[in-house]
Amino acid sequence: MANSKYEYVKQYELDDSLLPGCWIVVRIDGKGFTKFSELHGFEKPNDKRALDLMDECAKEVLNEFPDVRLAYGESDEYSFVLGRSTDMYGRRASKIVSLLVSCFTANYVAKWAAFLPDTPLRSTPMFDGRAVCYPLDSNLRDYLSWRQADTHINNQYNTCFWALVKSGKTPTEAQATLRGTQTAQKNELLFNEFGINYAHLPEQFKKGSVVLRRKTMVEVKQRADGTPVLRERNLPTVLHTDIIRDEFWNEHPQLMAP
Ligand code: GTP
Ligand code: MG
Repeated sequence: MANSKYEYVKQYELDDSLLPGCWIVVRIDGKGFTKFSELHGFEKPNDKRALDLMDECAKEVLNEFPDVRLAYGESDEYSFVLGRSTDMYGRRASKIVSLLVSCFTANYVAKWAAFLPDTPLRSTPMFDGRAVCYPLDSNLRDYLSWRQADTHINNQYNTCFWALVKSGKTPTEAQATLRGTQTAQKNELLFNEFGINYAHLPEQFKKGSVVLRRKTMVEVKQRADGTPVLRERNLPTVLHTDIIRDEFWNEHPQLMAP
């Protein structure tokens, strides 16, 4: 074979398959979104349009890849959970990560104008990605709890920080005011100084976004008389809910199923 003398190079392609029997979590994160959000005038600390765009892209990832059973997102990041027994692309890490990242990024660009119609896209959004294996159900629960706790901590801090800056403090002064403060003190500061009740802020900002499939009635066609024909479909749905407590997992037992 004319090609055979070159074929040995294939041996350099190492196996990168992810451990069998483990949960696979792929977390993607926007590259340089501090700058990207400035460039596009995102509202501080949370821009609902940008967060809705992230949620929409995550839904598209679930539409495209049936093996992704759950996603959790906040700020410029999203985590995608694949079941323990998935055989998607032979569990090859680079294949899975690169496809999820490119699916998300392509949708981010394609749907940008629908979510930020008055803001032209002025740079190319990019996302990095990594895959991590978790052997125990409790590891997966702890991972997701870690991300949601992070959402709360960041959101509370950023809400205080930007309220102080918008009221005239410099970023350094705002940082100094917040240094060492506990949750309750931050809530008091928001309420007493700015009349903001933290509990009343949008759930999307406080809890982040969960995407899972839910039975939904959709119109599949219309009868001759114009009445719709509805069918039940399992469609990706976004929730802004607590995923740390057991209630969520008891309500959605299919998420932890083997
Ligand atoms: P790398 O991920 O290391 O490339 O850096 P990064 O600049 O993306 O920072 P990181 O991922 O740690 O943090 C995300 C950043 O995105 C935040 O610090 C914010 O500046 C920005 N960001 C994300 N969502 C919003 C938003 O809704 N509004 C605003 N104003 N900024 C946001
Ligand atoms: Mg980032």
